Amino acid sequence: MTANLAPDQAVAYNPGTPALGTAGDQRRSAAIPPARAPQTPQATPRARRPEAALARPFIKWAGGKQQLVAELVARAPRSIETYYEPFIGGGAMFFALLADPTLAPRRAVLNDLNRDLVTVYEVVRDDVDALVARLEALQGPYLAADAEDRSTQFYAERGRQPVGAVDLAAKFIFLNKTCFNGLYRVNRQGVFNVPHGKYRNPRILDEPNLRAASAALAGVRLTHLDFEAALAAPKQGDFVYLDPPFEPLSATSSFTGYTEGSFSRTEQRRLKLAVDDLTDRGVHVMLSNSSQDYILGLYSADRGPFADGRYRIDSTPARRAINSRGDKRGPVDELVVLNYPPEVERRELPIP
Ligand SMILES: C[S@@+](CC[C@H](N)C(=O)[O-])C[C@H]1O[C@@H](n2cnc3c(N)ncnc32)[C@H](O)[C@@H]1O
Repeated sequence: MTANLAPDQAVAYNPGTPALGTAGDQRRSAAIPPARAPQTPQATPRARRPEAALARPFIKWAGGKQQLVAELVARAPRSIETYYEPFIGGGAMFFALLADPTLAPRRAVLNDLNRDLVTVYEVVRDDVDALVARLEALQGPYLAADAEDRSTQFYAERGRQPVGAVDLAAKFIFLNKTCFNGLYRVNRQGVFNVPHGKYRNPRILDEPNLRAASAALAGVRLTHLDFEAALAAPKQGDFVYLDPPFEPLSATSSFTGYTEGSFSRTEQRRLKLAVDDLTDRGVHVMLSNSSQDYILGLYSADRGPFADGRYRIDSTPARRAINSRGDKRGPVDELVVLNYPPEVERRELPIP
């Protein structure tokens, strides 16, 4: 099946609503309890198990930073008290920072407005054995089935109301690995609506990585708040990495969409004010965004009405943009906005 998702057909992320069910399920799924262990009130510093350094993102996520992550890690501060990532998505930066145990932050607070996504992280952290068992039960029949039966299993799972956090997480990961392009989109009613993909041999269960991610997440605080609330806590010596939904390159290439749940220019301005506030508080901030004039105008000293010269802006090499139509994917320059000088950075050699 080839599926092109028209921008008006789907709303990317729609992070405020639970999404993995049918429309009528939404009210019920709000009652899904968290994974077994209670949430820690504070990020707990603790020595991580060695396998934490091997963890990689366990879901495919639109706007994921996997391709750029070496560039980003090189620019991160050498010393971090607590690491904050309020738009965690697939968590490429978090896992990359942990890959070097000598530099990895001891405390971390990860956040996303997508409630189901945060539940998945909680389950990976707190209940990985049960998650592995549930994914095994989904993967076995799927891989053994022919194309038609795979499709039937996919749509049955997509339309099914999950029972509890582990079931929700398994469903989320199963759909992420087997849907078209690994996209996560919900319609205006907040219902996940990505069609079945055609991967020959999808790795629905990657047990070593899930266990490594579970070790990486031990002691990590997880929240599902709007970014502004998530940014109230950081203080001097902390590091915040911000990767908001991108300012679209054009209305038609929009992945975040100009639709309900989208990250509009108003949101980008609200984020800029939050970055200013963090800067005033002495928090180290790195922000990724697209090289749109509007974004440059917000952060660059010599551009735009809001610019104030407090930020350095680096351009990182082009990557492939997410677009549901393969033929429309083009290279996109990304910006890295920093509020600290090069001496603070981890990198030893200048990046050309
Ligand atoms: C570009 S993605 C982050 C990708 C991530 N860096 C990665 O490597 O996968 C942006 C994330 O912001 C979340 N989001 C959107 N609006 C938000 C808001 N107002 N507050 C917090 N998170 C939000 C989305 O759910 C999405 O996961």
